[in-house]
Amino acid sequence: MKEGTFIVLEGIDGTGKSTISKKLKEWLEGDGREVVLTAEPTKEWLGNAVRRANEEDLDPRTESLLFTADRCQHTKRIGTWLDEGKVVICDRYFGSTVAYQGAALAPLMGDNAIPWLMALNGPVARRADVTILLTCEPSMAMRRVGDRGHLSKFEKEEYLRKVQDNYLMLAKELNWTVVDSDVQLAQVVETVKQAVRAYV
Ligand SMILES: Nc1ncnc2c1ncn2[C@@H]1O[C@H](COP(=O)(O)OP(=O)(O)O)[C@@H](O)[C@H]1O
Ligand SMILES: [Mg+2]
Repeated sequence: MKEGTFIVLEGIDGTGKSTISKKLKEWLEGDGREVVLTAEPTKEWLGNAVRRANEEDLDPRTESLLFTADRCQHTKRIGTWLDEGKVVICDRYFGSTVAYQGAALAPLMGDNAIPWLMALNGPVARRADVTILLTCEPSMAMRRVGDRGHLSKFEKEEYLRKVQDNYLMLAKELNWTVVDSDVQLAQVVETVKQAVRAYV
C-alpha cells in the first residue's frame, strides 16, 4: 500500500490553521482520500497535561518538555495512520514548540533556547511531506482570536510577533511553504490547496 501523506499547518494564533485544516480535509475526502485531522496539543492525557501546564504558568522548560512528550506519543500514532496510507493533517507540530517556547525561553536561555528545542525535537518529530506556515499581521491575528472571548497567555501581540519571527526563521531553514493569511479566507484556502496538491 502507498504510504500516506503528512501535512502540517503552522502559524500564530488566528492565522486560520483550524479553519483551513477542516477545509483541506473536506477537499481531500471529496477526492476519495482517507484523511485524519489531528492537532497538538493532543486530546490524550499528555495533551491535557500540556494544557494544565499552560494554565499553571510552569517553567517554560517544563512546558517545552511536556509539549515534546505529547508529540513523541502523537508521532507514533501519526506513523500508524501513514502506514495505513492515510493523509494526516496536523494542526500544529514541532514548529509550534520551537516558535512559541523559543520566544518564552529567550529571557532565560538567550540564544541557546532554539538550538535546545531543535535538538530535543530532532529525534521526536517526523519529517512532514509539506509544512504550510500561515502568516498574519499579529494585530489582525489578535482581533481574530479576540472573538473567541477567552485568550490564552500566549495570545499577546508583542509575544506573537516574536513567535512569528521564529516561525519565519524555521520556514527559511526547513523550506516550508509560507502563505499570507491576511487576505480573504477563500483565497488562502486556494493557495494552500495548490501547495498541497503536488504531495497528495
Ligand atoms: N483569511 C481569513 N480572513 C478572515 N477571517 C479568518 C481568516 N482565516 C481565519 N479567519 C477567522 O479567524 C478566526 C481564527 O481562525 P482559526 O482557524 O481558529 O485560527 P487558528 O486555528 O490558526 O488559531 C476564525 O473565526 C476564522 O473564521
Ligand atoms: Mg486552532
